[in-house]
Amino acid sequence: MKTKIEPFKIKSIEHIPITTPEQREKYLDQAFLNPFYLRSEAITIDMLTDSGTTAMSSNQWSAIMDGDESYAGSRSYYKFEDEVRNITGFKHIIPTHQGRAAERILFSIMGGKGKVFPNNTHFDTTRGNIEYALSEAIDLPTKIGKNPEIIADFKGNMDIEALEELINRVGARNIPVCYITVTNNSGGGQPVSMQNIRETSELVKKYGIPLFLDCCRFAENAYFIKMRESGYENKSILEISREMFSYADGCTMSAKKDGLSNTGGFLCMNNDKLAEAAKTLLIVTEGFITYGGLARRDLEALAVGFREVMDENYLKYRIHQIAFFGELLTNAGVPYLMPTGGHAVYLDAKRFAPHIKPKEFPGQSISCEIYKVGGVRSVEIGSVMFGKNDEKGEHIAPAMELVRFAVPRRVYTKSHIEYTAEAIIEVYEKREQLKGMKITWQPDFLRHFTSKFEYV
Ligand code: F0G
Repeated sequence: MKTKIEPFKIKSIEHIPITTPEQREKYLDQAFLNPFYLRSEAITIDMLTDSGTTAMSSNQWSAIMDGDESYAGSRSYYKFEDEVRNITGFKHIIPTHQGRAAERILFSIMGGKGKVFPNNTHFDTTRGNIEYALSEAIDLPTKIGKNPEIIADFKGNMDIEALEELINRVGARNIPVCYITVTNNSGGGQPVSMQNIRETSELVKKYGIPLFLDCCRFAENAYFIKMRESGYENKSILEISREMFSYADGCTMSAKKDGLSNTGGFLCMNNDKLAEAAKTLLIVTEGFITYGGLARRDLEALAVGFREVMDENYLKYRIHQIAFFGELLTNAGVPYLMPTGGHAVYLDAKRFAPHIKPKEFPGQSISCEIYKVGGVRSVEIGSVMFGKNDEKGEHIAPAMELVRFAVPRRVYTKSHIEYTAEAIIEVYEKREQLKGMKITWQPDFLRHFTSKFEYV
């Protein structure tokens, strides 16, 4: 059998808005050419994010009814804790309302002036929380990880040599924690190999630096390890995940991804002192240690979600759906980050619209045009998200200019993917007409969310 099927059937449906090109033109103008400002009623296919957009299973919905809304000591928390400990093995499991809350707690404790946090690639909120704590966030992807054209198995890896250089340059005592993000989201949803996690862990241990995983997409990463790294073909996703976590001293997670849920996150560690400080801050700002700002029913949905996400039939379908999306673009010659990763397809805006310079935001322009053509929402991951200005006001571009189409879990069918690819291909065919953009207003932090644009 050739066709890979969705390992589920649809029990409840949600209508999606169908709009006209004229309406979309108007909506985008009203949104200052920033798709973050679009209302969901204006969107036919929403690939802005795979975060919190999952379709939950009937088992999760049943578990929600069983939520125990006790403020302290809720049995829903203990179910959640058991599942997280079963996978990660960590001593302290601290629930948070989403990933960035876990990050804020950790970096408020560990950050400060002069502190440096390395990562294969920081996600925007991780970087934001580090910079907000007046520290420095350093991305250390490998050379091939920065080249969207090279096809390789583990383009999410950390550049271990560069990491050692950084440690020697800034001093181990200024690096409170080293991070690895699995899969490497801002680097294209690319997986990190077990060997790379192990070797990074060995290196930082030598210098007394703890290793944390940003593990939003741990199951997708584990599936790639099973498919691509020798020695893991016969191991279960649970065994592989446990080994990944065994090299780390803690983690932060947005469970809105591989928790297969609409909200939630956690912060874990083995260090008692750090946990004490984190729990204090949690109680002050998020909620008690057995709910961390979540409704207890959400902890129930997560406890079920962590099991469902490690089902290999689910992961096979998930990774194949993204690969199929990529194949449709390959067949039409559309340049995208190769190979496809775990949760999204990333258009390579530099090759898609080479006539637009990074400082005029080619990715933003492509993203807007694809919305106009098909009502499909995507997100720029390039100069808007990560670009900076030097002292003279000159634009410093990041390594890649990407447009991400993140596919929500268990939400869209094969024809939705085909429709999205068609919209992309239509824009690619008239790519010479794409125009550059400028920012007319921006905030101090995380500017991509709320910046306003005009065409130049
Ligand atoms: N780390 C990574 C790697 C992420 O992808 C995200 C969120 C976070 C941390 C923060 O988690 O949203 O629960 O606070 N990523 C979403 C995305 C928003 O669209 O990629 P959060």
